[in-house]
Amino acid sequence: MEVVIVQDAVAGGELVAETIAALLKRKPDALLGVATGSTPLPVYQALAAQVRASAVDASRARICQLDEYVGLPAGHPESYRSVVLREVVEPLGLTEESFMGPDGSAEDIAAACADYDRALAEAGGVDLQLLGIGTDGHIGFNEPCSSLASRTRIKTLTKQTREDNARFFDSPDEVPHHVVTQGIGTILDARHLVLLATGEAKAEAVALAVEGPLSALVPASALQMHPHATVVVDEAAASKLK
Ligand code: F6R
Repeated sequence: MEVVIVQDAVAGGELVAETIAALLKRKPDALLGVATGSTPLPVYQALAAQVRASAVDASRARICQLDEYVGLPAGHPESYRSVVLREVVEPLGLTEESFMGPDGSAEDIAAACADYDRALAEAGGVDLQLLGIGTDGHIGFNEPCSSLASRTRIKTLTKQTREDNARFFDSPDEVPHHVVTQGIGTILDARHLVLLATGEAKAEAVALAVEGPLSALVPASALQMHPHATVVVDEAAASKLK
């Protein structure tokens, strides 16, 4: 695992955007796994700026989602499908056809999850998966105690994660209790994992993930097993590293 410490969130966004741009130059139709939440926004903004300046051609890029809420009505602005379309697909000048995600409103959620794992494999596998980290150490929505070998499936959000995500909704009660998320095993199938963490609130989780023992109690520690994992942290998120 490679750990890169940058000054702040903007520098982190630029560095990760550079990494994605370099991948797209090598492999224009790369499959990019994207996370939602606040942390990756500077990455998407920096990448979109490169596209607008014609410094990188993202027109053949393919985008896939990491997770999705269960039970939000279709088209809800905070469904992760809506968020990824708004924050990634549209700014990069792509269309919905270049984008896939798990179906959180399927009648048979288990079948939809298996379909998604199969679709990722049939697409050739994820080339680069961008990850955030929860204050409880989750990646995707694999909360503490998730199996390190898990595949895409339905999960219950912890109270802490629902509180952390309440800022995106009008009221904390509106945050769904369930999500479908790529499993830790699914995430580890990606060829390159890039975890971005910024801000002091993430410092404890980062320290446990990077320097603690490999443990299902800290799902992000699974990156220690991956042959090509990069952890990009700003100074605040790095503040509890030894
Ligand atoms: C969301 C996701 C989550 C977030 C994490 C951090 O797709 O995968 O693991 O990355 O909850 O969220 P922020 O960046 O909002 O602190």
